[in-house]
Amino acid sequence: MRKVLVTGATGQIGSELTMVLRQQLGAKNVVAVGHSRQPDLQLLQSGVYRTLDIRDQVAVQNVVIEHQVDTIFHLASLLSVVAEQQPQKAWDINMQGLMNVLEVARMNHCAVFFPSSIGAFGLQTPAMNTPQDTIQRPDTMYGVTKVAGELLCDYYHKRYAVEVRGLRYPGLISFKTQAGGGVTDYAVEIFYAALQQQAYCCFLRADTQLDMMYMPDAVNAAIRLMQADINQLTHHNAFNITAISITPEQLAAEIKRHIPEFKMSYKIDPARQAIADSWPRHMDDSCARKEWGWRHEYSLSVMVKDMLVKLADKLSGDDYVTGASRNPVF
Ligand code: SER
Repeated sequence: MRKVLVTGATGQIGSELTMVLRQQLGAKNVVAVGHSRQPDLQLLQSGVYRTLDIRDQVAVQNVVIEHQVDTIFHLASLLSVVAEQQPQKAWDINMQGLMNVLEVARMNHCAVFFPSSIGAFGLQTPAMNTPQDTIQRPDTMYGVTKVAGELLCDYYHKRYAVEVRGLRYPGLISFKTQAGGGVTDYAVEIFYAALQQQAYCCFLRADTQLDMMYMPDAVNAAIRLMQADINQLTHHNAFNITAISITPEQLAAEIKRHIPEFKMSYKIDPARQAIADSWPRHMDDSCARKEWGWRHEYSLSVMVKDMLVKLADKLSGDDYVTGASRNPVF
């Protein structure tokens, strides 16, 4: 991993992964591409950024050749809720985008990182301690593209020896870039609402348990997997990983420890609740822990504290914060 391309670089994971990779590998060795014509200044000023549609294979190929890329972190994708609203477009972006990346990787001898998700599971999957290898059969277009994506990656690895590795991410919590159109977005929105209004109306039931992870752990997992010794990997792709398995009620209680006036209410959105109910409560990630030493650093309490400090700082800079919670208690 010397010269890296990050697709979806303006998205929730991509925006943070790009910056960490630039610190680790040197800014000139990390090229960022995304569909946005107005990425944030940090991304633009710290290295090369190109606007590109991931469905355009020639455009992907040109960037890879021009910058002599050897590793592609492929993060461009539509999330679950948006994909349900536009299933055909989601197939196009998630599947054609992945096929383009795998083809370019095959022709240019690149390694590929592919993020799958808890969304790759369905109602027939065991919800507790979801095994690494188990029945999947998701109900959503997002899930269909993630399972098909996992299989396509396996195929390219087996058929063409493309070095593809991947993870099944849980819901991701971060302060830098908002998640866009996923079921687990509540776990990000709640922090903005807690700091700005000291109240949040949650679209999932109070007891909806899902796996979550703080972004620094998610970024670290991707890099660590790509650097893992191949001889230690039995699974290679689609590793279950998790950090924090929580309900909205538990997250609210932890936030309340810092913002005592915070109030949580619930107005269930049946569509998003149905998707959440079809996903695992808690994945078994022992294969990742055993094969390449995955371990998370952020527990619920450490994540909430860090998130509130960093987000309060960001919002005060943006002049967003109103009311009593300018000074959450730590
Ligand atoms: N965070 C994603 C979503 O909610 C799941 O991978 O769509």
